[in-house]
Parts: sequence; structure tokens; C-alpha cells
Amino acid sequence: MEMYTPETLISEEEIAFRIDALGKAITADFENEELIVICVLKGAFMFCSDLIKKINLPLKLEFISLSSYGDNTQSSGSVRLEMDITANVEGKNVLIVEDIVDSGLTIKTLLDTLSVRKPKKVKLASLLFKPIKLKHRVTIDYLGFEIEDKFVIGYGLDYAGRYRELPYIGVLNAGN
Ligand code: IMP
Ligand code: MG
Repeated sequence: MEMYTPETLISEEEIAFRIDALGKAITADFENEELIVICVLKGAFMFCSDLIKKINLPLKLEFISLSSYGDNTQSSGSVRLEMDITANVEGKNVLIVEDIVDSGLTIKTLLDTLSVRKPKKVKLASLLFKPIKLKHRVTIDYLGFEIEDKFVIGYGLDYAGRYRELPYIGVLNAGN
């Protein structure tokens, strides 16, 4: 396996600074209310673990797994629910934590799936947003960074299963 250091797009420090602000905003918006945080696996695991440390509310953590990409950098156009949450969200405040909103299909599918379960309120936190690719109407309540149309990796995001462990967000250059 080759050792390749991807170019940094967003540094560890920038990510930490932004997450601090997002945590404060979420804490203020839900003021003493209980929250169910749904981490969208696998990509959001690192963002979610850092974000919940900055949320000062009584919360429960759930995991859901959806997949829209194969080993490819293009969306497959269909979303599969691979693993569901175990909590009942009826009448509860829900915060979905996602790594990136690209076409918006994954998050739209998740929002549709959850809305049938009658939560009290559903908010979305996404670390990244690529506005150029958006095809579905999605409101990101808590956004980390808006980025250009580049395939990014690191800080939870992968290319063919690799690079999730990088502490920063990098760009994968052609040929690597
Ligand atoms: P969407 O359904 O097109 O919005 O795609 C969202 C999902 O695609 C994300 O949750 C990621 O798993 C994956 N994805 C989209 N863009 C990138 C990228 O630049 N790097 C890594 N994964 C990506
Ligand atoms: Mg994802």
C-alpha cells in the first residue's frame, strides 16, 4: 500500500474552531431540551464524536448507516439503508450529523425515513456542503464548511474505504 499525503483543504485547527461554534449554536437552540443525535455512518463518525463534546445538553447517541456510493467518486443515484437506529424518535428532538451533503439524495432519503416516525423536531448538522452538486432541497441548519466541487477525504470521509483516519480534510489528486 503506497504512502501518500493528500493536500490539506481544511486543517485540524480550522475544523476544531468551527465545531466549537456549531456546538455552542446547537446548545443555545435546544436550551435544556433532550436531544437524540443520529450519526450517519461511516463518514460522520469523527465529526460527530468531536461535535457532541461541544454540545452541552442531555443527549443520546444513535447510529445509522446509509450508502449511496460504491467504490466510486460519483453518486450511484440510489440510497440503501444498511443499519437503522434503535431508538424511538417519536416526539423527540433529533439532530442528524452527516459528513457531507453533495447531491442531497442521502440526506433527503434519511429525512423522509425519519419524518414518518413523527419526531418533534429534526435538525441537520453537516460538516461539508458542495452546493454545485445539489439536486434536492435540503436545509443544513448547522454547516461546517461550504466547499468547491472537489472530491475530499479525511476526518471520516473516504475514497474506496481509505483515508478516514486523517485528522484534516484533504483533496485527492488525480493519479493518486
Ligand atoms: P449525496 O447523497 O450525493 O448528498 O452524497 C452524500 C454522501 O456521499 C456523503 O455522505 C458521502 O458519504 C459521500 N460523498 C459525497 N461527496 C464526497 C466527497 O467529496 N468525499 C467523500 N465522500 C463523499
Ligand atoms: Mg455519508
